[in-house]
Amino acid sequence: MKNEKWVAGAKPLAREARAAKQAPRAGDNQHMSALKLRESKRWLERARAVIPGGVYGHQSPNLLVPGRYPAFISEARGCRVRDPDGNEYIDFLCSYGPMVVGYQNPAVHRATEKQRALCDAGTLPAPNMVELAEKLVAVSEGMDWAMFAKNGSDACTWALALARQRSGRDLIAMAGGSYHGVHGWCNHFTAGFPDSDRASTVEFAWNDLQGLSALFDEHSKSLAAVIVTPFRHEAGADSVMPAEGFLEGIRSLCDRHGALMIVDDVRAGFRLHRGGSTQLWGVTPDLLVYSKALANGYPLSALLGNESLRSAAEGVFVTGTFFTQAVPIAAAIATLEELEAKDGIAYMNAIGERFCDGLQRGADKAGVQIHVSGPPSIPFMTFPADAGSFERSRVFAAACVRGGVFVHPYHNWFMSTAHQESDIDEALAIAAKAFREAARVRAS
Ligand SMILES: Cc1ncc(COP(=O)(O)O)c(C=O)c1O
Repeated sequence: MKNEKWVAGAKPLAREARAAKQAPRAGDNQHMSALKLRESKRWLERARAVIPGGVYGHQSPNLLVPGRYPAFISEARGCRVRDPDGNEYIDFLCSYGPMVVGYQNPAVHRATEKQRALCDAGTLPAPNMVELAEKLVAVSEGMDWAMFAKNGSDACTWALALARQRSGRDLIAMAGGSYHGVHGWCNHFTAGFPDSDRASTVEFAWNDLQGLSALFDEHSKSLAAVIVTPFRHEAGADSVMPAEGFLEGIRSLCDRHGALMIVDDVRAGFRLHRGGSTQLWGVTPDLLVYSKALANGYPLSALLGNESLRSAAEGVFVTGTFFTQAVPIAAAIATLEELEAKDGIAYMNAIGERFCDGLQRGADKAGVQIHVSGPPSIPFMTFPADAGSFERSRVFAAACVRGGVFVHPYHNWFMSTAHQESDIDEALAIAAKAFREAARVRAS
């Protein structure tokens, strides 16, 4: 392992520097033989005793390939992570999106340390909240104000509340299967939530403008808003970009019927377009929600809106004990500056293209068909021969992990500005071997 690869722009920890000479490269990881996961398993057993399920939510090892993935990450730098057994991976999940300028990015680190020395969770907000709001309003097309929360679920739910307050209507239209968080109105799983939580939402199919138009015809006077993601990126399915005219059509249906357009940019934000992802298609929503990549791993989300929603925003009581935290806000300011200084979005798309092209070449060479979907900065890959079973995806992903490349069989991946061309090429060499394993899976 070379220090600069592990560190990717940051200074190595002293311990890492000492270990660097004997430490393996990611691609040499136990290397296409068995992956040593003893420590991960030990931590998981301890976790199961005191944490329901051990690890819950989408990070649960049960939702990966059981027994073939680490269950914990102990260290992370740049685009690389290390598990408790000392295995190192080039990480293409980026903490499921937040890590956009690299784990322990030096500029973000400096900004957070500086703010931490002053104040983090104060009795009142710190002035940097105003600075971040000004910055977000300045870069986000059509947005006049910003409010902050801690996660995407809360900010999306606040957006619905504001739309209802502004329009005096209750009903929300959402694309069926879209993920907007864990609150009752949109949680993908119904256990624990009463049906009444969903009573004020209606669904249309992604890219089906006619279906949405029919919903407007049926509920013209009660639809408060349409909430959409910039592209369809649900786990367990190929990503789907908006069809020509789809987002524009939502915009004009909302305008025609006096409803509001909410864009949930929690997952895609800051990887597609600096002014809000739907600007790629020239569409400006009324309300815009950011989270994941906003603060490079620090807990923060933002709800932005246009002038017409300012008094609704003042009229709805939203708060939270930690929303004033100044360290995540300092992280967000530094992250946005880093992205701008490095032309980060263009970089991630270019490096993502290099990755996707290389995957295609690797698959062709192994004689296995793949389907790469989504924007290059948030790519995903499936095997059409799986026909939804994800069997080859599991074999491929487990082989990648064994070789030192962290990808997910069912969930889209993320690029960051910390991924260098050399990281991509190293990952592709490992993926090439993984494709050969996937190619051996027989049609069932
Ligand atoms: C599009 C989208 N909206 C909302 C959320 C919920 O965000 P959080 O997990 O921070 O509550 C997510 C999380 O993955 C998401 O991808």
